[in-house]
Amino acid sequence: MQVVEAKGFKIPIVGLGTWALRGRDCARLTEQAIRIGYRHVDTAQMYDNEREVGEGVRNSGKRDEVTVVTKVQPTLLAPHDLERSVKESLARLRLDAIDLLLIHWPNPRVPLAETLGAMAKMKQEGYTRAIGVSNFTVALLDEANKVSPEPLVCNQIECHPFLNQDKVIAGCRQHQMAVIAYSPTARGGAMGDEVLERIGKAYGKTAAQVSLRFLVQQGIAVIPRTSRVGRLEENFALFDFALSDAEMQEIRSLARRHGRIVDWTWSPDWD
Ligand SMILES: NC(=O)c1ccc[n+]([C@@H]2O[C@H](COP(=O)([O-])OP(=O)(O)OC[C@H]3O[C@@H](n4cnc5c(N)ncnc54)[C@H](OP(=O)(O)O)[C@@H]3O)[C@@H](O)[C@H]2O)c1
Repeated sequence: MQVVEAKGFKIPIVGLGTWALRGRDCARLTEQAIRIGYRHVDTAQMYDNEREVGEGVRNSGKRDEVTVVTKVQPTLLAPHDLERSVKESLARLRLDAIDLLLIHWPNPRVPLAETLGAMAKMKQEGYTRAIGVSNFTVALLDEANKVSPEPLVCNQIECHPFLNQDKVIAGCRQHQMAVIAYSPTARGGAMGDEVLERIGKAYGKTAAQVSLRFLVQQGIAVIPRTSRVGRLEENFALFDFALSDAEMQEIRSLARRHGRIVDWTWSPDWD
């Protein structure tokens, strides 16, 4: 499995997204994905499925090979809350340690230095092997890298052909952080796009596979989610074709002004 390396930490370039997967289906899909070859699984405290994700990972018999990512919810970023919630995540996952722990969304009500101090403590005490962030802007990346006691290895952000994320990707590269793309098929929106369909046809690939290949070919990790076993295989079959420079350029031109799917603005309801 190809990896994206950041500050010595290796992130398998294709992972399984699990938002909205629940119960037995979630555990079964996680286990099945690992059997197919996925070595990276993405969950979060907010997804209410850490228990099932952990079960799927354990049932696969390959726990040691899998990078398990979870995220601290934005209402729990004060140090005491964060530490308690990470221990609770681990208890739900029933794993020895988390591999990569992320701040799910920034919360301007909690000083970033305090949150990152607590994240670092979690790493130093062995609750997680690495730490990172999600949904951070360029300005927040600058601040976070300045104050974090431990290296930040990634920024998980919305990324797909319909959204131009060049600025924040450049910010990540400047800080030697990996980019992990969420909603990498634009929540299935890649399907039916005329350009992606046409390019895919030439390689015997689907539009979703072209959307994913477009990202991995830039060294961006992807975490597509599916509730269908057949699509687990489809979303993993990205390494037997390559897009030409002209095709990459054409896909880039699909980015549009209102291409964002996930609205991640901080909400006062979180308090
Ligand atoms: N950090 C954050 O704030 C954040 C935010 C959003 C998401 N995420 C993470 O990123 C993961 C992926 O993002 P996402 O779930 O928003 O979007 P996504 O993976 O781009 O899209 C998932 C949707 O696309 C469909 N789909 C998947 N593969 C397909 C294929 N090959 N062909 C056609 N349709 C396909 C799925 O339907 P079926 O189930 O029917 O296949 C599902 O409805 C999440 O699950 C979560 O782990 C993180």
